[in-house]
Amino acid sequence: MKLKQILLAVLISVFAFSQAKADEGMWLLNMLGKNYKQMKAQGFKLKPEDVYNVNKSSLKDAIVIFGGYCTGEIVSDQGLIFTNHHCGYTSIQQHSSLANDYLKEGFWAKSFSEEIPTPGLYVSILQEISDVTDKITAGVKPNMTESDRQSVIHDNTTKLTNEAKLKYSEADFYNVEIKPFFEGNAYYMLVYLVYNDVRMVGTPPDAIGKFGGDTDNWMWPRHTCDFSVFRVYANKDNKPAEYSKDNVPFTPKHHLPISLKGYKEGDFAMVMGFPGTTVRSSTSYEIKKDMLENGYRAKIRGIRQDKLMEDMEAFDEIRIKYATKFAHSSNYWKKSIEANKSLTSLNIVGEKEKEEQNFIAWYSLNSDRKNEYQNVLPTIKEVCEQSQENSKNYLYLLECLLNGMELTNISNAVVSFLLSDSYTEEELKQTAESFYKDYSKSTDYKASLAMLELYKQDVAPEYWPEYLKNNTPQSAVDSLFASAFTTKEGYDKFMEDPSREKMMADPAIKFFMDNVSVYTSLLQVYRYNKDLLKSARRLYLKGCNEMNSGKLLYPDANFTERLTYGNVQSYSPKDGVHMSYYTTTDGILEKEKPGDYEFDVPKKLKDLILAKDFGRYVDADGTMHTCFLTNNDITGGNSGSPVIDGKGNLIGLAFDGNSESMCSDWIFNTKLQRCINVDIRYVLFIIDKYGNCKRLIDELTFAK
Ligand code: ARG
Repeated sequence: MKLKQILLAVLISVFAFSQAKADEGMWLLNMLGKNYKQMKAQGFKLKPEDVYNVNKSSLKDAIVIFGGYCTGEIVSDQGLIFTNHHCGYTSIQQHSSLANDYLKEGFWAKSFSEEIPTPGLYVSILQEISDVTDKITAGVKPNMTESDRQSVIHDNTTKLTNEAKLKYSEADFYNVEIKPFFEGNAYYMLVYLVYNDVRMVGTPPDAIGKFGGDTDNWMWPRHTCDFSVFRVYANKDNKPAEYSKDNVPFTPKHHLPISLKGYKEGDFAMVMGFPGTTVRSSTSYEIKKDMLENGYRAKIRGIRQDKLMEDMEAFDEIRIKYATKFAHSSNYWKKSIEANKSLTSLNIVGEKEKEEQNFIAWYSLNSDRKNEYQNVLPTIKEVCEQSQENSKNYLYLLECLLNGMELTNISNAVVSFLLSDSYTEEELKQTAESFYKDYSKSTDYKASLAMLELYKQDVAPEYWPEYLKNNTPQSAVDSLFASAFTTKEGYDKFMEDPSREKMMADPAIKFFMDNVSVYTSLLQVYRYNKDLLKSARRLYLKGCNEMNSGKLLYPDANFTERLTYGNVQSYSPKDGVHMSYYTTTDGILEKEKPGDYEFDVPKKLKDLILAKDFGRYVDADGTMHTCFLTNNDITGGNSGSPVIDGKGNLIGLAFDGNSESMCSDWIFNTKLQRCINVDIRYVLFIIDKYGNCKRLIDELTFAK
């Protein structure tokens, strides 16, 4: 490359990575000082210490990890929590039955005593974040092998966590985590308080909380009232505690006041919560591989879901049993499909190739840098290409034979108990109870047959488990379903006198063991490649950060608390099309399909809409706003996060992203990426007017 070209490339690179845009970025709370100027310019009226402060109450005290996979926020001085309906879904389903069909009818506790204890559900509140990079990387040498490096890091992590545990006793319900950031170029320690007594307080029916179903999921315009209500309980001293009937509603250090004023295009909006995973630092090679995997996942899940849905539509009992299982599968099924569409249409591989050219141009200017970085992209390319086949087989095994066949779960639990002692008797009992509560043998049979057929068709014979080598899928599934574990009675009978010998003779266990042996060999290669990629990626990120030093950089999401700020904003998905930044209840009636699984509108809601009985929740324009858009930067895990105005008031709950920017885990597209939120006024309207649960409205704080 000639000097002029190199200079040009460097200029482009500086431009491409210049000051992260105001909307892009999942910022760590303890470093907001660096963003403050920009936040203020956009309409933020508070100070960074109002967001995160270890010594006095701040916004972070009102934000919780909900259930270990979502976000929630505390909205009253009695520990009331709002989160998404799809985040509360597991609990709502867990408490549902034909007699109490909360999925279909909704649920509103009319008093504290009607709030339903939900074992297994917990919330965590962040207490403190600290940079522990030096301590964690002490003893790491530049030329160490990846496994030696991992073992030094592992030892340092154990030591530091143990020290921290002396300070923050686990018995007091502290949880200490140390996590890598920027691919292990930095480490932070996060301390949480964990509350294990969380109770279900309210939920709209599916027809409101999940209105639009999978058809509307990941789409705009949206009319889903995606919220549910829980409450945190603490002991009499307001300390975290296991469930007890003597516990009392938790008094938080802070709860979010609610604004009923609404918003206009351009208003400041920020989201605080726990984004799970992004891979913004991916190279073009990794994206190509991810796209292949998205394709496999979409295909496998689509086939299985069709089998489940046949039964769910035919039988109420199976609809209730499979509601959560289906939703978990279909959410990322559709995401995989939409992600591939947008990765393709926006040519993200091409975009990343440009970034890589900039990187090459940058290191080529200096011989030390060149020595350090010139092998990194070729290594990533080689590992990605080499590992493609293994990744495919690994994914098929997981999706088809392990997650796709439910008998695997119970077999795994029995084997873990009898063979490896990694399960206690109590754990096995609990697993079995929840397994059989939501199990339909005939549905699993159909889905399993489809999965075996697909696996045999798409995966090369050397990766078939023993039972597939000598059997047709039909004969394999028939012998599998002769297992004692296909019914609760069979399982109970087995457990009266369990033995390893008897266990090993059961067909489900034999299948499971065959799967495990294929899995183990695939996993070994998978891990080996992952380690190679890990060290190359760490070096790549080190280089990128060096190239961009002095700029505001944020680490990829890793389920630690972040803040993203921006504005209320509409968008244009394609030439000539404008997407309004909000929707109203009019759209619910436009979408209505009576009796439909996704678009039925409950009569009571329809009557309220037709009567325009919106109460104090109506917008100044006379309509009832349902959902709205911001340009905040979120991903899965953020679900349930509060959307907060410039003054710290709650204006909505983030719950989704739009299909046009489904490449958002890999790259942020300013023009297209939007965060889909349910308007807090629509949430309160449903609680108040639809659910008649005024006692909840009375405990909220409204901003003047
Ligand atoms: N796509 C949303 C997310 O992952 C979940 C939406 C749930 N709603 C549904 N209809 N499946 O955050």
